Amino acid sequence: MADNIRYIKVADKQEAASVVLERIRAELAGGLKVLGLATGSTMEPIYAAWASSDLDFSEVTSFNLDEYVGLQADNPNSYAWFMDHHLFSKKPFKETNIPDGTSANLEEECKEYEAQLRDAGIDVQFLGVGENGHIAFNEPGTPFTSITHVTKLAESTLGVNSQYFEDRSAIPETALTMGISSILSAKKIILIAFGEKKRFALEQLTKGEETTEYPITALLGHRDVTIITDLNGIQP
Ligand code: GLP
Repeated sequence: MADNIRYIKVADKQEAASVVLERIRAELAGGLKVLGLATGSTMEPIYAAWASSDLDFSEVTSFNLDEYVGLQADNPNSYAWFMDHHLFSKKPFKETNIPDGTSANLEEECKEYEAQLRDAGIDVQFLGVGENGHIAFNEPGTPFTSITHVTKLAESTLGVNSQYFEDRSAIPETALTMGISSILSAKKIILIAFGEKKRFALEQLTKGEETTEYPITALLGHRDVTIITDLNGIQP
């Protein structure tokens, strides 16, 4: 078993939130300054625990992984709204960054976002995982060398994520996302996955073989990854 990846098996989401809270408390004490943040239902209990804690993020700069193209920040399906609602309105940060999916020049926005995050240097990056093994919005087939870019969402992702939209046609088919190389540039990575729907994706990682077919397997090439999951039998 590769020792660059540590597995923490938790009983449930609440235990995961406590584990993450204590880990972040320790990281803050150790000088964490730049945090990479994720969205999705997985992160909700994590952020709820931070929001009601005594943790102080006022010296921390954050970079979010991704954003839909074309959704304004006041649209409840935008990741800007998600972050504000679940965390930023409750815990002040020094500075928060989310790719702007409403930019008139998306290519330029991606270039600038990548430059900013590389310049800042992410200390700890949080990740969820898609059922198809995507990380952020890096869909199957994305090169591991990719940096922040405009991406077309996979059919399966549109299917899964459209549950949050009023109908299937309302979900944007494109998004801005940190690339796989952007994610791997973080000093430490914490991936959280709950429930049987994520078993297939985690199993691709435990097979131990890097393949662009399953973007999650790019984590095999990183030196400090923690996987937190409530799934039994995942740890290799
Ligand atoms: C979206 C996001 C990913 C996230 C994934 C899982 O596709 N772009 O960053 O990891 O959903 O979402 P959930 O936590 O809701 O399962």
